[in-house]
Amino acid sequence: MIELNPHYAELKDSYLFRRIGAKTEAYCAAHPGTRLLRMGIGDVSLPLAPAVIRALHEAVDDQADKATFHGYLPECGAPFFREAVADHYRGRGIALTDGEVFVSSGASDELGDILDLFSPSSAALIMEPAYPAYVDASVIAGRRIVRLPAGEGNGFLPAPDDSLDADLVYLCSPNNPTGAVFPRELLGSWVDFANRRGAVILFDAAYEAFIEDPALPRSIFEIDGARTCAVEICSLSKTAGFTGTRLGYTVIPKDLTRGGQSLHAMWTRNRTTKTNGVSYILQRGGAAVFSEEGQRQIRENIAVYKRNAKTLMRVLDSVGVWYTGGRNAPYIWMKCPDGMKSWDFFDLLLNEIQVVGTPGEGFGACGEGYFRFSTFGSPEDTEEAAERVVRVLG
Ligand code: MLT
Repeated sequence: MIELNPHYAELKDSYLFRRIGAKTEAYCAAHPGTRLLRMGIGDVSLPLAPAVIRALHEAVDDQADKATFHGYLPECGAPFFREAVADHYRGRGIALTDGEVFVSSGASDELGDILDLFSPSSAALIMEPAYPAYVDASVIAGRRIVRLPAGEGNGFLPAPDDSLDADLVYLCSPNNPTGAVFPRELLGSWVDFANRRGAVILFDAAYEAFIEDPALPRSIFEIDGARTCAVEICSLSKTAGFTGTRLGYTVIPKDLTRGGQSLHAMWTRNRTTKTNGVSYILQRGGAAVFSEEGQRQIRENIAVYKRNAKTLMRVLDSVGVWYTGGRNAPYIWMKCPDGMKSWDFFDLLLNEIQVVGTPGEGFGACGEGYFRFSTFGSPEDTEEAAERVVRVLG
């Protein structure tokens, strides 16, 4: 009989956001007519920017006409999409060639798929609390995980230490779930660590567009030495509202080699075998995000989410609750009141005020005692949730 992947048995019963969804659905089924306020999963509430919608419509029309129709596109990305992304980086002073950009169907897919580049015997360093897909994808691949706990003491931004025995390093900045952002110098010490060890950093930059502080790096390629040790994984989900549309990109510099092999060449080989790329229509929509008009419009949407963050932060300040995040990231990471456990606090908010958040424990053991609010809801829902939260915490 065929032997199945034994590592599935090592996973938790269900993925964090599935578990939250199931609990929420059960509550709604038992309490019909409830006006539930969802601030759990980081799913956007604003529609795509008009420039993106226009590009999508035009691309649909292209597909209706023999003269403009597109069949297969290059697997690693349409030239116009790769150029739009690379231009965006170059505009921010980061030297990059178009061919170093790979299209993807989103960061979460890519964070798991990219593990194909590394031997299953390589160990992955994961700072916790962490986006649970890093852990689950590594478990499924049978990879050894080195957990590096982060906490209030180091601002949820741990520093490298040569005793850490890892080959792959997941870094997420701005961090999901804590909202912490690596300052330039600390990020530089991770780059030095990776280059010294011959490790590779998987830099998850899905939330870079939320960084307000100009001193903070938005890309790992702003750091000297990153081109020889890092892969950057980005998404248009949160930046431009593509959670339901699905599009992202990955940057692999041609200078990144290990054991004489080019990771860029290996990923090209992988993509040309395992995918036929992403649809022409979506890539046209994605390229429009990087136009001047698209950038202005997505900034307007991000500003709405930032106002939501301010609304929540004001309320937490007024009741004296400790929290972090919210300023350079779309998540607020708060301490549960009275030493409560995070799933107990989840149940309390669901049952008492019908607000859904994300329990910190879902991001790893050191997230226990904390709770995450997403700021991607509508302003009306966020205002109302803030008022309800005061009732519980005030
Ligand atoms: C989150 O809520 O952590 C993210 O939205 C989940 C995701 O991007 O897959």
